[in-house]
Amino acid sequence: MLLQKEYTNTNHCRKFRIDPKTLSWTPDSWRFYPALQQPSFQDVKLLQKCLKKLKEASEIVSLSKIEELKNKIASAEKGKSFLFQAGDCAELFKDCTFDKVKLKILELTKQKEILQLGLNREITLIGRMAGQFAKPRSDSFETKENITLPAYRGDIINSNEFTYEARRNHPINLIKAYQKAKKVFSYAQIFNKNSYTYTSHEALLLDYESTLTRYDARYNRFYNSSSHFVWVGERTRQIQGAHIKYLSGITNPIGIKFSENITMDELLKMIEILNPNQENGKIVLIPRMGHQKISTYLPKFIRSIQKEGFQVTWMSDPMHGNTEKTIKGIKTRYFNKILDELVLSLHIHKSENSYLGGMHLETSPDNVTECIGGFQDITENDLHLNYQTACDPRLNSSQTTEIISQFIKEYMRISNEKFK
Ligand code: PEP
Ligand code: CO
Repeated sequence: MLLQKEYTNTNHCRKFRIDPKTLSWTPDSWRFYPALQQPSFQDVKLLQKCLKKLKEASEIVSLSKIEELKNKIASAEKGKSFLFQAGDCAELFKDCTFDKVKLKILELTKQKEILQLGLNREITLIGRMAGQFAKPRSDSFETKENITLPAYRGDIINSNEFTYEARRNHPINLIKAYQKAKKVFSYAQIFNKNSYTYTSHEALLLDYESTLTRYDARYNRFYNSSSHFVWVGERTRQIQGAHIKYLSGITNPIGIKFSENITMDELLKMIEILNPNQENGKIVLIPRMGHQKISTYLPKFIRSIQKEGFQVTWMSDPMHGNTEKTIKGIKTRYFNKILDELVLSLHIHKSENSYLGGMHLETSPDNVTECIGGFQDITENDLHLNYQTACDPRLNSSQTTEIISQFIKEYMRISNEKFK
């Protein structure tokens, strides 16, 4: 059994020339593997100080609630219940206030209740909140009017304002992120009186994730105490990479986001690495392929998973494969394409004798104009009216309700087919 004290000592490995890869997993094992999308901090001493603080900090979520969520995910696997994961693409520090969190929770619970009534089954709400502060970027730099600056990587690293000072990485942001996450988590439970809000974020910034990893001696388990559910993103899911190494040792349920660029072999290996004991409710597969590609690729993945006999829960992310830029260079998504991918996923699972166990959306409670289409008929020319997102375009409240309503209609139509 690995003791808590033993796992932090990576210097020990270096000093005695022990090959760390031969040791059992520790929260710091990832440090010996290539880690993509990690920021560099100029003030290394300050970073170490901040990490020490995080190591001593109290947990945000408890192990028992993490295990509870796993049971809920297991029940969604066979369509008994349904997962609703939604919230901001990038959470902002400035929005972690009592009033703003209240709005977000009221919005998410409203959408959850619509789904619950419509699908007539238990819905498990997983907010993209209380830690969704780190963003992977396709381009490391951003250029505006001939000025090039480092890209914004989320409030846990730098700031979104387009100035040199704002784009500098500050280790103190890791502490701020922890404090904000803790606050948001407690508000979320206050405002959602009738049920529990599970939290989730991308396990991207490994300094943050690993220092908030705790050991539970009762069960001899490590768990990420910063969130119930974490996912690995499309850009950091390399089998030999640091993110998979880190995720392989925690007991939390894990989401795997992937486009059609993943190979079958990679996906199957990843599931074996992340769920060696074939635990139910541990793995959520989240394809995000885009409305044009989903029909070509999703069936093959479903069949391979079935052939291997892997226990997984399927969720559709119809957002990230449908991102595009307008001529003016504004990031947007078309409502119809989002709905298309979601409904196609539903049909594909039905015809493959599989279940769609959840949906993953990027949403805002505000009347933002970031996605094109829907009842309000938001056009490309309207995008500037209330474009607030710090990263990807979100569905506003009306668009979210509409997507959910259309989804329910299709879900029930398909479910009733067997009675004809
Ligand atoms: C996201 O969920 O915001 C994200 C970056 O997703 P993906 O890794 O699927 O692109
Ligand atoms: Co996003």
